[in-house]
Amino acid sequence: MHSMQHRSKKSAPSPSIQSCLLHVSKALAENRIEAGMQEASILLQHVTAMTPTDMYCNLQQSLSASEAAHLKRLLQRRLCHEPLQYIIGSSTFYGLEFHVDHRVLIPRPETELLVDIVLALGTDILAHDGHVHIADVGTGSGAIAITVATHLAGTRVVAVDASRGALAVAAINRKKHSASRQVDLVQGDLLAPFQRTFDIVVANLPYIDTETIEELSPEVRCFEPRMALDGGADGLRHVGRLLRHAETALIRGGWLLLELGAGQSTSVLQMMADAGCWLDIDARCDLQGIERVVMGRYKEG
Ligand SMILES: C[S@@+](CC[C@H](N)C(=O)[O-])C[C@H]1O[C@@H](n2cnc3c(N)ncnc32)[C@H](O)[C@@H]1O
Repeated sequence: MHSMQHRSKKSAPSPSIQSCLLHVSKALAENRIEAGMQEASILLQHVTAMTPTDMYCNLQQSLSASEAAHLKRLLQRRLCHEPLQYIIGSSTFYGLEFHVDHRVLIPRPETELLVDIVLALGTDILAHDGHVHIADVGTGSGAIAITVATHLAGTRVVAVDASRGALAVAAINRKKHSASRQVDLVQGDLLAPFQRTFDIVVANLPYIDTETIEELSPEVRCFEPRMALDGGADGLRHVGRLLRHAETALIRGGWLLLELGAGQSTSVLQMMADAGCWLDIDARCDLQGIERVVMGRYKEG
């Protein structure tokens, strides 16, 4: 009896890629996880180490026993609403792959607007001065700092974060993208130690108000670092202090760029106007029409 059980277990057919795709996407859909087939496909590519083309050309190929067991473990994590990017340890930002894990926020597509603006301003400064010095405040995975460094040779970026764990992830990404000569990682509170250093200060600091966090999806609320999300009672806890730090850390004529949440730009534009030391104050909309970035230039002396 024992040996029969053993034989029948051994001869059980290994599941094909196609049957796994169907099984995983169905399980995800039953748990109200959207884009189930797309996520199933990404999980399958991850466990088999296949490209999408290889996978779809070999749908009848069987998974090995260890691949099938690995897939089962990853599916269980996803069914608990852990973000797919943490499970596979990777996220795409501005066309580049970044390592991500529970120590950092998963970079969001809307943050690419911030990078677009930094690259445009940085290109002009480089053409004029031959060098550009940028601070990325609240760097997290290093997505902004490393993307800018990768696209603009001749840029030096200081990437600051208060979280030691986030800086460890940024260090992995800096190495992955060979950006160690351009990007310095600094643990600190906003821009406290810097004086008249930067041509551009860019910041995507936490801006969700504390109460709203509880209404967000479990993927965000239960898995992303609180310290990367929580902007205090009005979401703007860091902004006033960052404005004051930037006044000291920017060279005269240097640019400050801040990413904000929906409905926050009016208050921040007012704060900058009230400070009396910002020129060319402006807001830029993301693809959804939300005023996502507020910017201004530190007044010449
Ligand atoms: C919204 S996440 C942004 C991460 C990354 N820049 C991005 O766009 O994907 C904010 C980051 O700010 C960091 N942070 C929070 N408070 C900070 C402070 N006082 N000084 C420096 N960094 C801070 C958090 O640890 C987190 O990594």
